[in-house]
Amino acid sequence: MCGIVAYLGKKMAQPILIEGLKRLEYRGYDSAGVALLGCDGIKITKTKGRISALEQILEKPEANAVFGIGHTRWATHGAPNTVNAHPHIDCTGKIAIAHNGIIENYNTLKKWLKNEGIEFITETDSEVIAQMIGYFYAKVIANPDDFGLNGQNKFEWAIQRTLRELHGTFGLAIICSDYPNMLIGARKGSPLILGVGDNEYILASDAAAIVEHTTSAIYLADNEMVTIGSDGFRTTTINNIAVTKDVEPIEFSLEQIELGGFKHHMLKEIFEQPEALGNCMGGRIDKQEHRIKLGGIEKYLRELTRTKRLIFTACGTAFHAGLVGEYLFEQLARIPAETEYASEFRYRNPIIEDGTVVISISQSGETLDTLAAVEEAKERGATVFGVVNVVGSTIARATDAGIYLHAGPEIGVASTKAFTAQVAVLTMLAIELGRRRLISAEMADKYLCELSLIPEKIKKVLEQSDHIREIAKANIEKNNWLFLGRGVNYPVALEGALKLKEISYIHAEGLPAAEMKHGPIALIADGMPAVFIATSGAQYDKIMGNISEVKARGGKVIVVATEGDQQIQKCADHVITIPDTPDLLQPMVAVVPLQLLAYHAAVLRGHDVDKPRNLAKSVTVE
Ligand code: AGP
Ligand code: GLU
Repeated sequence: MCGIVAYLGKKMAQPILIEGLKRLEYRGYDSAGVALLGCDGIKITKTKGRISALEQILEKPEANAVFGIGHTRWATHGAPNTVNAHPHIDCTGKIAIAHNGIIENYNTLKKWLKNEGIEFITETDSEVIAQMIGYFYAKVIANPDDFGLNGQNKFEWAIQRTLRELHGTFGLAIICSDYPNMLIGARKGSPLILGVGDNEYILASDAAAIVEHTTSAIYLADNEMVTIGSDGFRTTTINNIAVTKDVEPIEFSLEQIELGGFKHHMLKEIFEQPEALGNCMGGRIDKQEHRIKLGGIEKYLRELTRTKRLIFTACGTAFHAGLVGEYLFEQLARIPAETEYASEFRYRNPIIEDGTVVISISQSGETLDTLAAVEEAKERGATVFGVVNVVGSTIARATDAGIYLHAGPEIGVASTKAFTAQVAVLTMLAIELGRRRLISAEMADKYLCELSLIPEKIKKVLEQSDHIREIAKANIEKNNWLFLGRGVNYPVALEGALKLKEISYIHAEGLPAAEMKHGPIALIADGMPAVFIATSGAQYDKIMGNISEVKARGGKVIVVATEGDQQIQKCADHVITIPDTPDLLQPMVAVVPLQLLAYHAAVLRGHDVDKPRNLAKSVTVE
């Protein structure tokens, strides 16, 4: 996700764009730029880095430059450098766009446009939009009678013609040097709001960039667009069907808007998981071909298929995603897999034989221990892949190839949507390798279909947030908790314990449920909370036995169970349910109740959820 701001009015646009981008910097901050329409056409100024870096290079704007677009980027396709920064311009120099979202079919469109003679200058998916609009615009100018415009202006027509070709998500602000008083916005899957002022308009990704100018806005819905001119605005569908939109008041405060109405970034990111997984999996699941398409490692797939051993290396939450990966690759692809703490791997003189592949997992892509493990693995001859969220980060650049999460910025120190996205990426890769090694097309389809249902299942769990808050409240006085799971949910237990520890400062331990009787059960007494992931699966009966052991010793049992499980209701003190999900795909859903449990416990204890004591979002020290 990123931040878009566009202005059309009577004031100088540049300072309005810059201030607006600063309000949206939390949405993405790896590069920034503005496009202003002046006497000599569209002038683009952009740079890698924060908006402050952009301010350093901006020239004094022309007095009459009352119109322009701006963008602060969170890269998904193409390194976060100056060339790939938005706005992007077409090869005629007439069209400039700022884009929020992912164009899933950009490679196909780029190939087609290149065959039509269009030269590209960036690695991004977004440039395809600018070039395609420019392409259709040039066509319709040259032969207007060929396109049945029916009086529609050519700029607007070229945009609508382009939008029909795009698969994926977009929030767009678009300008054309031939239309010095026309700004067009369009949305599908990424937010776009039009602030309606006194003879001035502000188009933005969210109201944070608008509220200081006006508190009246129209909220575009998916597949809608708005054409803004000096005489007002018109809203249509992207197929040019008129749409009536009411001007509504913006009621949130600035801080509330930046948090999307949520109290903390962590809660916002927990609730973003359905959207984040949609972006993570979007364009990568090809049910027709029974395949997963992971562009970043396409050329290594044959080597990966022959892999004799996988080593995941990571820290913290990413380490727990790697533990889930062990089960996924061993069950779906029959590839031996192990997960190593990066801080241990780098010093243990690791054994790397031929056929060993190392996968480093990191949200930030800057964790020093994980980076050192990558370098150690490379020095020993391993092929090293990255599963990383931040495009162009150090670990992403240090690995031979990789798969980006596309989860959007994760601001809260406690990692949530990155974990589920990491597991989703590992699941997709395991299905792809399984398909190449042993599982049938039918089995692959079954998993792909179930995988695509996960975002909706997470939404069902999120509806229980208030219920989960009550569970946290009922146990908030307890200072020692256990988290227990079996099989692929054992790493989920570890992740739940880490979440509770790092933001509520309650001590918690995660362990395989069967391991309880080998020591930790001595802790159970006086209503000690024991959180079990007791979802449907092969070891359900065994875990029911563990629950009884805790109950018999006076523990308080909190359970994550499968919807419809009546038996569990009789023996647990608190039950949170998840929709029925195949065992191997449960972690992405079963972790959400634990994220919410930790979040509510931390809030109830009055802690700074987004910036917990002693912690940093990215641990760049050893
Ligand atoms: C998780 O909630 C913590 N913030 C921490 O354990 C984190 O997962 C770890 O530092 C690894 O960070 P990375 O994914 O950015 O490499
Ligand atoms: N996919 C586009 C890019 O990587 C836009 C990313 C965003 O929404 O910030 O440039």
